[in-house]
Amino acid sequence: MRRAARAGGLPPAWGLALAWALILARAQALENGLARTPPMGWLAWERFRCNIDCEADPQNCISEKLFFDMADRLAEDGWRELGYKYINIDDCWSAKQRDGAGQLVPDPKRFPRGIKALADYVHSRGLKLGIYGDLGTLTCGGYPGTTVDCVEQDAQTFAQWGVDMLKLDGCYSSEEEQAEGYPKMAKALNATGRPIVYSCSWPAYQGGLPPKVNYTLLAEICNLWRNYGDIEDSWDSVLSIVDWFSAHQDVLQPAAGPGHWNDPDMLIIGNFGLSYEQSRSQMALWTVMAAPLLMSTDLRTISPSAKEILQNRLMIQINQDPLGIQGRRIVKEKFHVEVFLRPLSQAASALIFFSRRTDMPFRYTTSLAKLNFPDNTVYEVQDVYSGGRSFHRKT
Ligand code: GLA
Repeated sequence: MRRAARAGGLPPAWGLALAWALILARAQALENGLARTPPMGWLAWERFRCNIDCEADPQNCISEKLFFDMADRLAEDGWRELGYKYINIDDCWSAKQRDGAGQLVPDPKRFPRGIKALADYVHSRGLKLGIYGDLGTLTCGGYPGTTVDCVEQDAQTFAQWGVDMLKLDGCYSSEEEQAEGYPKMAKALNATGRPIVYSCSWPAYQGGLPPKVNYTLLAEICNLWRNYGDIEDSWDSVLSIVDWFSAHQDVLQPAAGPGHWNDPDMLIIGNFGLSYEQSRSQMALWTVMAAPLLMSTDLRTISPSAKEILQNRLMIQINQDPLGIQGRRIVKEKFHVEVFLRPLSQAASALIFFSRRTDMPFRYTTSLAKLNFPDNTVYEVQDVYSGGRSFHRKT
């Protein structure tokens, strides 16, 4: 009734139609409809870095072979069916100069067939291709960047190649250029008409926190964003990321939701820095943080135990929960045990009991009340790693 009245002289039915049209238009302007759950896939950087020495190291250098190989593994080893669909190129893919028309071009020696051919192959395997750019004069690795005046041209280039995701880094640009360039790229990607998931590194370059970072704006223009520093292949690095995200969860947690996610960076499971238990911990923590699951490991040689962690179905189901609510740390015990909780659809919840102790396995006792669960009901509990089930009620 109110809506119809506000529409002035129009008959009530028109008033409603107008209200709907306004709502639809607004939704289209803000969302590209992508990444309704956190993106899953593989990203080259942490494991393969800027290794461009294809003569000495043809298996591991940044070349089309690496991406053809990984696409085959994603398609053939059960990853794709579980949702790991994106295969993402990171830095150091391009030639050191743009071509005569000012276009970004791949390094001709390392990507002789070009990015379009790689995208076609990736698509033929039921996967999607991501690429890397940098808003600035150079990428972090020193390759040609996308200055603000090149944003539209580069968006067109990526779309023509058939790219499905863009990570736009922020080395070598000023705060003002970033404030102009990141929203401009969102518009330019939309204008190509190709659905391209947009990953922004903008907040990571501005300290990750308000007032410098506006999470309301970010959620409107980016599908995911890096908030913090780069992950490295160590447990210390994982912990520093978890600590930062937990310390600032009041700001970060509400910013996430379907179509827009905080990105604590890649999964390093399968590499050299984490023990088995630490690998399980990273997987659980990223799952409850509703983080994108972007593996950066060699899928050609991954161990069965690392693969099992990354392919845990229930874990993935939790990460991909349709409500898209990011979890929070709800308990921090003095004796180095922490509890994380993520609300899920169908009145379920995911809990992590996370021991940071370094002495021995620890028996942790808690209560429904302490975890904020009503105790007048029966709970079915399932251990995501062991599969074990049990029922609990107040005793
Ligand atoms: C920055 C990013 C990394 C990676 C490198 C590439 O450090 O944060 O994720 O893309 O650049 O040079």
